[in-house]
Amino acid sequence: MDFSNHFVWGAAASSYQIEGGSREGGKGDSVWDEFCRIPGAVFEGQTGDIACDHYHRFRDDIAMMKQLGIRAYRFSFSWPRIFPNGTGEINEDGMRFYEDVVEELLKNEIIPYATLFHWDYPAVLQKQGGWLNPQSPLWFEQYAEAIAKRFQGKIHHYFTINEPQCFIGLGYGRGQHAPGLKLSAADNFLAVHHVLLAHGRAVRALRKYGGPVSVGLAQCGRIYSPQSNLAEDTEAARRATFEVPDNFLDALFSVSLWSDPIFKGEYPQDFRQKFSGLLPKISAEDMEIISQPIDFYAQNIYHSTRVKATKEGWEEVPFPPGMTKTAMNWPVTPECLYWCPKFLYEKYHKKIIISENGMSAHDTISLDGRVHDPNRIDYLRRYLSYLRKAAREDIDIGGYFIWSLMDNFEWDSGYHERFGIIYIDYETQQRIPKDSAYWYQKVVECNGEKL
Ligand code: NOJ
Repeated sequence: MDFSNHFVWGAAASSYQIEGGSREGGKGDSVWDEFCRIPGAVFEGQTGDIACDHYHRFRDDIAMMKQLGIRAYRFSFSWPRIFPNGTGEINEDGMRFYEDVVEELLKNEIIPYATLFHWDYPAVLQKQGGWLNPQSPLWFEQYAEAIAKRFQGKIHHYFTINEPQCFIGLGYGRGQHAPGLKLSAADNFLAVHHVLLAHGRAVRALRKYGGPVSVGLAQCGRIYSPQSNLAEDTEAARRATFEVPDNFLDALFSVSLWSDPIFKGEYPQDFRQKFSGLLPKISAEDMEIISQPIDFYAQNIYHSTRVKATKEGWEEVPFPPGMTKTAMNWPVTPECLYWCPKFLYEKYHKKIIISENGMSAHDTISLDGRVHDPNRIDYLRRYLSYLRKAAREDIDIGGYFIWSLMDNFEWDSGYHERFGIIYIDYETQQRIPKDSAYWYQKVVECNGEKL
């Protein structure tokens, strides 16, 4: 069988990357609002202040999604729009914005897939230590509870957090993302533990107050594919995918560091051995909260590293000169959409959702007024073919969300990267569906049978 009859075809975006309205409706600052003000932090000093102005144009954007046949929309709530002070009193204006968005989606028969936290952390809470503060899981739980109560019966699918690997690894480890910290290994592992606890507490809150919901989190991480079909290379890629690297900054990007606690109730053994003196106190009760059962395994997948087997285990195989890369300089490795879901499914036994996949390109409006992006169509065609191969092998694949619905603010790269299937002219805020949007429409219509 190809993609199942219940397969969910969607598109994704996130609050800070598209909304703008950064000071409207009582919204508080997020760490990204603050980070963007630091000279040199973001490409050409760009900010998410206006972004795609989705805050004012969401009705048009949803209408466009409807026209393009998109069935599900993955969006995120801005925590400081709902709680300008991080905790305490709800900002009703902020909440209303999302109520309007969700109502509009439902009216258009587009299924909302909501992410609670996609990196725009309340600045006031960061000043109290952010994810290092032992209270931080409780702050997140209150936030999750407020959303669950308000959207009960309306939102049935949640991601608690998006890419913890990045907002800790790049935000607390490498200083490249907000809040721009370069903390020690011990502090990073403390933050990891609090994020995991926050996730677990949010899962409980969503189930308790949100009605029947399906819940997971969207991850990324270092992933590997075998360079050949030899069984030993497959084994090498599997090992590489789940091994925790020796260097703590790389370890933060490991799949197992985050997933073993959640899906198996324990930190990986190699992690505990490698970093034994640097770990926070971890109680059995903590592990129980962290490993709340969840409903799916969601992974954002863009590219993988190729490896081969060696006597010692595995080694990376360099890409050939002239390797095809996207504008972001990421290699085009479509096979990862087969291998990664396969390895994850075999290890964690959960339905897999591809919560992001796509590419950035130097798209332009042609003289005919349209945006032709054959490279993106070719990319998607290749990647989805590998995902279909996984589905044919009975790996339970539940859905696919293209990143992104529209061009948007790509974090420290600003507006330099265009990931959308809808082009944004940032000067006029005109939206132009790219050729890939019409191509994707056809794919959705035939449930991926013709790619
Ligand atoms: C990961 C993140 O979730 C998203 O915010 C980002 O824009 C894309 N992938 C592309 O880098």
